[in-house]
Amino acid sequence: MKSILTQSQRKFYAENGYLVLENQVSVRDCASMVQQAERLVENLKTEWDHSIFTTQEQERQSNQYFLDSGGKIRVFMEEGVASTQGDTHRVNKLGHALHDLDPIFRKFSYQARWHQIAQEIGLQQAGLLQSMYIFKQPRIGGEVNIHQDATFLYTEPISVMGFWFAMQDATLENGCLWALPGGHRLGLKQRFVRGGWAVQMKTLDTTPLPGEGYVPLEVPAGSLVLLHGLLPHYSEANHSAVPRQAYALHVIDQESEYPADNWLQRGEQMPIKGFMDNRKNP
Ligand code: FE2
Repeated sequence: MKSILTQSQRKFYAENGYLVLENQVSVRDCASMVQQAERLVENLKTEWDHSIFTTQEQERQSNQYFLDSGGKIRVFMEEGVASTQGDTHRVNKLGHALHDLDPIFRKFSYQARWHQIAQEIGLQQAGLLQSMYIFKQPRIGGEVNIHQDATFLYTEPISVMGFWFAMQDATLENGCLWALPGGHRLGLKQRFVRGGWAVQMKTLDTTPLPGEGYVPLEVPAGSLVLLHGLLPHYSEANHSAVPRQAYALHVIDQESEYPADNWLQRGEQMPIKGFMDNRKNP
């Protein structure tokens, strides 16, 4: 089979922990996902405020709403933005099983092309664990602090990698990704775990992630950014008048161990499948 990635692209990923591939998603596919995400937000209107809390009981429910989202499609709102009825601009993201539960996202996610790309950068048995649709709303979309994806999607051994698809141009102004070249060699610093309905950050290594040396990944709509699960990355707030929507899909090695205290649990009804297995989950 003809390779998708060149030798030098594979080398770049191995050395830097990320790789930008432009022109991977058609204009038509981007448009249909943008539209579908809008539809999902509208359908989830009654749940909009589940992710915002004030009292302890509400906090418990809010945590539950988040903790149950591994095998569902749920909606999460921007923090600190006043609620106005009918204001879709408060929506931060949808998560975390769009790839299994929504027909448009399922069709897009389960593709032989992504399977081949995963294999070419060294993930032989990729399983589709989690997906998010990120809105990064104009002037509202907040920053995402420096983190490693393996903190949230931990396996033993560590295997998570991200497929980050730009639905719209990502620029310095609207909050593109920033990545630390080579930072995937620094080891995992923290793990985000659950205990009952609570979640907590567990420190594994007290040396902090570097605060400098990051490069912006400005990419046009239709680009795919591959991110190693240990690569430190972040994004700034959207200061512009245009959205910066992205679809992020996270895969793990199906042979790896998935701990029961990971915050994200899909439930028994939702076994993890590979890119080539587009069977519908119940
Ligand atoms: Fe991330």
